[in-house]
Amino acid sequence: MSEFSIDPAVAALARDAFWVTVCSGAGMSAESNVPTFRDAETGLWERFDPTELATPEAWSADPALVWAWYQWRARLVRGARPNAGHDAVAEWARRRTVTVVTQNVDDLHEQAGSEVTAHLHGSLFAPRCSNCWLPYSGTDADPDRATEDLHVEPPTCPRCLSPVRPGVVWFGEPLPPDAWDRAADAAVGCDLLVVVGTSNLVYPAASLPERALAAGIPVIEINPDPTPLSSAVTHFLQTTAGIGLPALLEHVPPAG
Ligand code: OAD
Repeated sequence: MSEFSIDPAVAALARDAFWVTVCSGAGMSAESNVPTFRDAETGLWERFDPTELATPEAWSADPALVWAWYQWRARLVRGARPNAGHDAVAEWARRRTVTVVTQNVDDLHEQAGSEVTAHLHGSLFAPRCSNCWLPYSGTDADPDRATEDLHVEPPTCPRCLSPVRPGVVWFGEPLPPDAWDRAADAAVGCDLLVVVGTSNLVYPAASLPERALAAGIPVIEINPDPTPLSSAVTHFLQTTAGIGLPALLEHVPPAG
């Protein structure tokens, strides 16, 4: 039994929803020890300058720095395991229709057993050619040497010999259109949207719960800290993903 108390109106939303869309951000993986971006002290953007690491300009200026940084992050994630929040989302999908849309570039939802409908910001584990976009499946230069400040030359595309780049979306780049279309459809097609672990500052991802609300779909937000969305959502649960999601799941009866 969860120690986090759920309001009866929130419990009813969880119990009665047949199609739930979960929109997750970096806070979803915080309890798996994967750092978020904007949390004070622990957030990646407290320690690193996004303009030097997460833009097309950064890549052009210093591909070996950018490649090494993403290899370091991939290594962090390889050592991480899903938390109780990821597990609750996977279990919810065994009971109801659940569409997972994430801004996260880790694979912790998949490790927990969820199928992810849209990785809006790409994946740490899907590198591709920076020129011809051929997915790259070779082993990388030397992942175990990658640290947060090392330069590691990216591998070379076997087809066109251009450098291979991380398969993530950088600031200033468009989202993958198919992933975006699936996410936007799920945001307005579901009968409950749960937005969890995102600061709701980065668009267009932050527009998904806004679209749901505009369509009259209830939105439950889970976050230990209020965000710009919190005053607009149907219910704000001020707690972590690892506590809030299992607490919601307790109210969803098993299928059948
Ligand atoms: P942020 O780092 O901006 O926000 C993380 C949110 O998670 C904050 O609102 C925290 O309060 C919350 N949080 C922290 N611990 C939590 C926990 N245990 N459970 C639930 N919530 C928790 O991360 P995102 O909103 O995901 O993009 O960032 C969006 C995008 O900005 C990222 O995908 C990335 C970044 O720059 C790119 O790299 C393109």
